[in-house]
Amino acid sequence: MAKFKRGDDRAMNGLLPEIAGWTSIRRYDTRPIPNDVIKRILEAARRAPSWANVQPWHFIVVREEAMKSQLRQLAVGQPFVETADSVVVCCGDMSAWSEERRLKQMRSLSQALGRSFNEEKAKESLNDPAYNPLLRGKDVLVARLYEQLSLAIAFMILQAKREGVGSCIVGAFANEITAVNMDLYKKTCSDLGLPQDMMILTLVTLGYPLEDPQPRPRKPFDEVVSLERYRNPFS
Ligand SMILES: Cc1cc2nc3c(=O)[nH]c(=O)nc-3n(C[C@H](O)[C@H](O)[C@H](O)COP(=O)(O)O)c2cc1C
Repeated sequence: MAKFKRGDDRAMNGLLPEIAGWTSIRRYDTRPIPNDVIKRILEAARRAPSWANVQPWHFIVVREEAMKSQLRQLAVGQPFVETADSVVVCCGDMSAWSEERRLKQMRSLSQALGRSFNEEKAKESLNDPAYNPLLRGKDVLVARLYEQLSLAIAFMILQAKREGVGSCIVGAFANEITAVNMDLYKKTCSDLGLPQDMMILTLVTLGYPLEDPQPRPRKPFDEVVSLERYRNPFS
């Protein structure tokens, strides 16, 4: 295993360039992002891992000016939401963990992997909160949805950077979590045609960068990583 020395930037050497040079981008030029580039960015999101492969997400690419303007309002007026070429509305599917859908998912996964499927055992696993977040109520379900979506969004923004497209994650907006401006949130869900069980959890703005900001500092390695036990330095 590679040993990192404290404060040693050589640890950065082997990183993906998209990670080493990561910065959020909030100023965009007006060049449209070609459809095939947008598709690859969303393809990356679609390939992210998720709990038992439930893939509890849906992504709506918004490019129309009127809806981008509405999303800016939703995002408490943050201007880059409107000036981005595209805004990806990242939705979490509250029904993805229903027993019926989980069993269907497990059945098709077994089939795809050429394994036999034990329906009784599968049902039994769904009685265990370690395997079934549905048993822990709506708050836990929402936390689990964010957990899954975050991975898809990480894949998405890294692919965007690789394509030369800047992005910014937007968490400050009206939805059931922030509970501000619920009227606008509900109208937006309706305008986007979202089914009842889909929640808007995050927005991601995309556009060709018109800025090249200094990377924001991160906490030192040893402040966030320990070896074997908390605060025992790794290196
Ligand atoms: C979940 C999440 C929500 C965020 N929400 C916003 C937001 O509403 N507005 C914004 O300008 N930046 C937002 N950001 C971007 C962060 O401010 C940014 O990632 C952080 O300051 C580090 O900067 P960097 O991404 O350039 O390294 C969000 C980031 C994350 C991960």
